[in-house]
Amino acid sequence: MKRLAVLLLFVFFLGKAEAQRIAIMGALDQEIAILIDSMRSVKKVNKGGIDFYKGKLKGKKIVLLKAGVGKVNAAYSTAILTENFELSMLIFTGVAGGLHPEAMPGDLVIGEKLVQFDFGQVDSAGFTVSPFRKLTGGRHEDLFIASDPALLERSARVADRTVLEPISGREPRVFTGVIATGDIFVSSDEKAAWLYEEFDALATEMEGAAIAHICRTLGIPFVIIRSCSDNANNHARMNFNQFVGPASVNSARIVMGILEDME
Ligand code: ADE
Repeated sequence: MKRLAVLLLFVFFLGKAEAQRIAIMGALDQEIAILIDSMRSVKKVNKGGIDFYKGKLKGKKIVLLKAGVGKVNAAYSTAILTENFELSMLIFTGVAGGLHPEAMPGDLVIGEKLVQFDFGQVDSAGFTVSPFRKLTGGRHEDLFIASDPALLERSARVADRTVLEPISGREPRVFTGVIATGDIFVSSDEKAAWLYEEFDALATEMEGAAIAHICRTLGIPFVIIRSCSDNANNHARMNFNQFVGPASVNSARIVMGILEDME
């Protein structure tokens, strides 16, 4: 009887114990489409209103999801993800507005550091950005959150040897540096110049720093990979619509390359 109880307990825990997975996240359908299509043994489960695609990609156990647009959706999705899956790391893939004068549509920006550019204080002197707040209240010391150094190195190495989709006949370039996140689709020459000067940011998007914040809090290694769909300038909306497809493909190719590069 005792033996049977031990055996049942063992079987119960075996069923419960989920192997660690690599989380792959995008914000839009276009950003994850090619990855869903390339997955094997896909099982879709819904948790907290989010569809999670469990399966294999390049032989690695992954869980793929669409976070939705903006910092709140990204933070919510990351929280539901981390509550329901054992993760070894998180890789974000998607598009961004390029801020570096030479970062053109199709180019890659690998996020070395993430910053929330719209978190701060407005007074008569204007806007002052503040460091992230800890869950317990106090401020973090640094304005920026660094990606996992090993994942960053692997991403840059893979990006250098990956064949990317040319856009407008131009071979895409690879940049590594700061990504500035805010709840704003930036379509303004002035705002784009401010982000580049103020934060040394190479690209802007709407989710990365929120995900980085949660990963840092929970100790999950992460990296944010983006490909430029536009230049965050006055023409950004038009360029975004034109280039979101090929730029998403370029970013997703790096993710597949990263998975292939792992043992
Ligand atoms: N994602 C892609 N382009 C963007 C932009 N210009 N601003 C914010 N997020 C973006």
